[in-house]
Amino acid sequence: MGWLIGSMLLQLIVTGYGCEHMPTMPDDPITTIDTTTNPIDTSGNGMDTTVTSNPCEPDIIYFERDILPILISNCTTSGCHNAQDAQDGVILNNYQNTVETADVRPFDLLGSDLYEVITEDDPDKVMPRPPNAPLTNSQINLISAWILQGAEDLSCDETAGQCDTEDVSYNEVVEPIIITNCRGCHSGGSPSGGIDLGDFAAVRAQALNGNLYGVIERLPGFVPMPLNADKLPQCQIDQIESWIENGALQN
Ligand code: HEC
Repeated sequence: MGWLIGSMLLQLIVTGYGCEHMPTMPDDPITTIDTTTNPIDTSGNGMDTTVTSNPCEPDIIYFERDILPILISNCTTSGCHNAQDAQDGVILNNYQNTVETADVRPFDLLGSDLYEVITEDDPDKVMPRPPNAPLTNSQINLISAWILQGAEDLSCDETAGQCDTEDVSYNEVVEPIIITNCRGCHSGGSPSGGIDLGDFAAVRAQALNGNLYGVIERLPGFVPMPLNADKLPQCQIDQIESWIENGALQN
């Protein structure tokens, strides 16, 4: 835990970078993962942190796959941290902008503005700002684990493995995709575009009327979704298509 004490000391010394709010240590149930001795590998199979290619490893956090969708969905709405609006100079639309404008410091949670604002206790300072929903603890944990892993821009080949489109489960496959990529914009009191994807019934309605597949496959006549982001990986689109064809059930 030397690094932690070190970074807290550093934090006390370096008070000059625009922080009215002192970072607080996360308390339960937000867990932080101690990755200092071995940033990635807990299974002892000798994997190393510089792995940048295929296939996707379960213990590695990949920025584009795991972190960027959370930022796009929760932070780049109109008036916020997209390239046009750039609120407070912060732009969260790709790796480089995120690291530079949200002051992400590898291995240093408390020194990273990005982490500080999503764990802020003060309702006037926490991001995303109400009435937008706060990040879930699992999203916060993922972002903190990514910073502790070195805040790198690792990528992997999603389709290197088999894409399983048999008996696709709503709870295990479809809903997690929606939560990560869509729900930040499409839930709450005034969902973007008037489209609510906040619960199963709402997602099912958009599945059955053709909108869900239309926007993610980016068919002509549909606004491409997720907004401001790349197309979803083909495997996820195929899985959602299969789930819809099988009746869009709550399975
Ligand atoms: C950054 C915010 C944002 C994210 C993320 C996002 N949307 Fe949207 N969505 C919007 C906005 C804004 C509109 C209204 C666009 C318009 O009418 O021009 C919209 C419109 C839609 C529509 C109606 C489009 C149409 O052609 O009528 C659907 C369906 C939709 N979104 C589904 C999704 C799905 C599914 C995802 C995730 C894969 C997603 N959205 C991710 C902001 C977002």
